[in-house]
Amino acid sequence: MVYNNILETIGKTPLVRLHNIVSHIPAKVYAKLESFNPGLSAKDRIALHMIERAERLGQLLPGGTVVDATSGNTGFSLAMVSAIKGYRCVLTVTNKISEDKLNNLRAMGAEVILCPKDAKPDDPRSYYKMAESLAKQIPGAWYVNQNFNTDNGEAHYLSTGPEIWEQTDGEITYLIGSASTGGTLCGSGRYLREQKPEMNMIAVDAYGSVLKKYHETGVYDPNEIYSYNIEGTGKNIIPANVDFELVDRFVKVTDKDSAFKARELARSEGILAGYSSGATLQCLEQIKDELTEDDVVVLIFADHGSKYVTKVFNDEWMRQQGFMPAETPQETPKPATTNDGGVLC
Ligand SMILES: Cc1ncc(COP(=O)(O)O)c(C=O)c1O
Repeated sequence: MVYNNILETIGKTPLVRLHNIVSHIPAKVYAKLESFNPGLSAKDRIALHMIERAERLGQLLPGGTVVDATSGNTGFSLAMVSAIKGYRCVLTVTNKISEDKLNNLRAMGAEVILCPKDAKPDDPRSYYKMAESLAKQIPGAWYVNQNFNTDNGEAHYLSTGPEIWEQTDGEITYLIGSASTGGTLCGSGRYLREQKPEMNMIAVDAYGSVLKKYHETGVYDPNEIYSYNIEGTGKNIIPANVDFELVDRFVKVTDKDSAFKARELARSEGILAGYSSGATLQCLEQIKDELTEDDVVVLIFADHGSKYVTKVFNDEWMRQQGFMPAETPQETPKPATTNDGGVLC
């Protein structure tokens, strides 16, 4: 099959059964591998859908500028769509972004503005406020606003959800995925719930995010916010794309457990997936006791692990975070020698 351009290869990602890493769990567990999208993440779907909707509505005109605040993946996908369609792409990101992701954005032609990760959402230096003000300053700019643009969730309602339904022959009983803007989990979940109202939906959240508490109490508690490492899991705002009615439960996972799960996944299943995929697997670990052999679990693995080779998959980074013990200096072993003193090779 031949495609007319790269955008036509977005979607229709595989659903792959997991074995070794879930051998202690009675349910059938599958991973929806969003890394098979050309931009290596689920965000290709929303970038294309949101941009094409803005074009149809006349909000984005030929030669215009696409502006958004993004933790990396959406930015990469927006830059990819912009490259094909001839738009300028300006992105604000927090300085928590991995170096790999930053270089990827620039490689795709995006202009990237780094903002302090600890700036509160209403601080003019925050990546949200910076994107908003840039969109006002740049003539012909369109502010994507992925957190509040409901075309984000709709992209997954129209594609990811139906794909999972078809791939599981409607047998899915649990959908588990990280929630950040909420579009991926809630968009696909909304479609799946319409087919099967009894399906369970679990959102993975991070310590340092406000989402779980908001779901349980309706309170937006700024005291919940502190900086953490997992990218694409949790939020310090309440995005419109998180449907709190739809999600049954938010489960918090730690930076450390999630990092080790991502590493274990690569070595036991041969799947190099991102940090939030590790978080999703860790969530499964925390809820596994409620599963039976009749359950069919779908984990959404949002992106590819190659974006984290300087982080989660790097032992030095793991040590810097205190996730692995510091290396103890080892005596250099003496080379083995033959009886006559010659070194064996
Ligand atoms: C790596 C990664 N995982 C998961 C998510 C969560 O997706 P969503 O924003 O649709 O909730 C994101 C989004 O930023 C992400 O970049």
